[in-house]
Amino acid sequence: MTKAQTAETAAPAQSGIVDMDDLVALCKRRGFVFRASEIYDGINGFWDYGPLGVALKNNLRDLWWQDMVIAPPVGPDGKVLEIVGLDSSIIQNPKAWEASGHVAGFNDPMADCKETKLRYRADHLFVCVFEEGNVWPAFMEGEDEHAVQKRIHKLGLKGEFMRLPFTDKKIAANLAKVQGPDAKEPGSLTEPRSFNLMFKTFIGATATEDDVAYLRPETAQGIFLNYRNVLSSSRVKPPFGIAQIGKAFRNEVTPRNFIYRSREFEQMEMEWFCHPDDAKMWFDFWMEQRKDWWKKVGLRDENLLIRPHDQDELSHYAKEGYGTVDVEYRFPFTAPGFGELEGVAHRCNFDLTEHQKHSGTKMEYVDPQAPDDRFIPHVIEPAAGLTRGVLAVLADAYTADPSRPSKMFMKFNPKLAPVKAAVLPLLSKDGLPEIAEKLYMSLRGKFMTEIDIKQNIGKRYARQDEIGTPFCLTVDPETHDDQAVTVRHRDTMQQERIALDKVEAYLAEKLL
Ligand code: GAP
Repeated sequence: MTKAQTAETAAPAQSGIVDMDDLVALCKRRGFVFRASEIYDGINGFWDYGPLGVALKNNLRDLWWQDMVIAPPVGPDGKVLEIVGLDSSIIQNPKAWEASGHVAGFNDPMADCKETKLRYRADHLFVCVFEEGNVWPAFMEGEDEHAVQKRIHKLGLKGEFMRLPFTDKKIAANLAKVQGPDAKEPGSLTEPRSFNLMFKTFIGATATEDDVAYLRPETAQGIFLNYRNVLSSSRVKPPFGIAQIGKAFRNEVTPRNFIYRSREFEQMEMEWFCHPDDAKMWFDFWMEQRKDWWKKVGLRDENLLIRPHDQDELSHYAKEGYGTVDVEYRFPFTAPGFGELEGVAHRCNFDLTEHQKHSGTKMEYVDPQAPDDRFIPHVIEPAAGLTRGVLAVLADAYTADPSRPSKMFMKFNPKLAPVKAAVLPLLSKDGLPEIAEKLYMSLRGKFMTEIDIKQNIGKRYARQDEIGTPFCLTVDPETHDDQAVTVRHRDTMQQERIALDKVEAYLAEKLL
């Protein structure tokens, strides 16, 4: 779990970067993402994926699985890597979470505001400390500078001031002066308290403390728990990987920024088990691979970077070794800064060693060809957020275009686009709907295809632009004569004529 998401708070929209309000509105209007339990006023930190959202998420998930498990990359030595899949249980024996360090160490510091009843990540707050004066205003990290100055002015504070993290000792000794980001009076923020992020539940009917279990906060541990099963049942040996995609749950102190930080989310994680001597080579390999993969998926290069973690933000399992790097993306609310999209960590042999200690099960690997070389494998872990990836893909695809009736279009990589083709009869008469229906029926099992007969053609194109459909296939009166349709390309709006019996091959060439 990483702490420093660079400037990961609300910032004004930059030119060329979508305004979050516009993106959230589009997601609701067109059925990508809805607030969970919306009719009951929502539930903070939980989201539902609508018809187009689930299609987009599944497409991103499938591309990851394709490139990790079905056709893993070629390694630095030119050999194809071995990576196998797994789907482990969300709830495991609670001893697993003691061994992994999550029961004791998966904590975030939080501070409560007694006046507003709001809760903050203590390590995401900073305080403006004035030499003179008895009010020190606190702000959320990444706060717009203009808003900071405005509040200071409103409070009548003058002269030099110092910015200190809320967790600084000087702040702890002067809490009475600190005014919370949303408070009217100073002295309402509590001291930071450690808060375990794991969701607890009870197994069975009695619900006593002995029955406590946890919803997994990362998919990774299920992989470590099955490391021996996979080794003995599959034809793999180090170096090899186990990949898993699935839900993870964290009781985040401050879920925010739409689906960026939620309490229920999905991860795509791969644990790469290798010889300790080769860990650095594989760490560098996976770091580059993962950034390149996000580019391949369609995120713009200028919106991606690799950032090594500072020592003080490393997770408990990555304190030794080569540390962690994040693949960061320029999210609309971090811009011009970046926020974490994926972490690549050198977990050393921390997890396997701890599970060996706690379970008594040997995790050592002995190569039958070289029995003197015994080792507990080191692990390089590329850990990506699937739902966070969906947000990056949505933000990157949003393209303003005042010349269109929709004023924008979603420029998805066609492989990710929820709908690949829309069949649109120009008129709802003269036999055109029948031809359209026949074309639609021939395509629907092969590509996600829509048929849309109602409204004028401009409105139908606008809808397809908003949902990012790469190809619109228009059936018009000429179709009767030339047995062809017009293909409209989403990005250029250019049109070309394709024979009806060539449409399937045409789409296959563009999409597969
Ligand atoms: N197994 C290592 C691990 O879980 P992490 O950096 O805490 O590492 C990996 O999580 C990825 O999961 C992050 O890079 C992010 O994309 C995603 N993620 C983590 N917490 C999240 C949250 N609360 N909401 C959405 N995505 C989250």
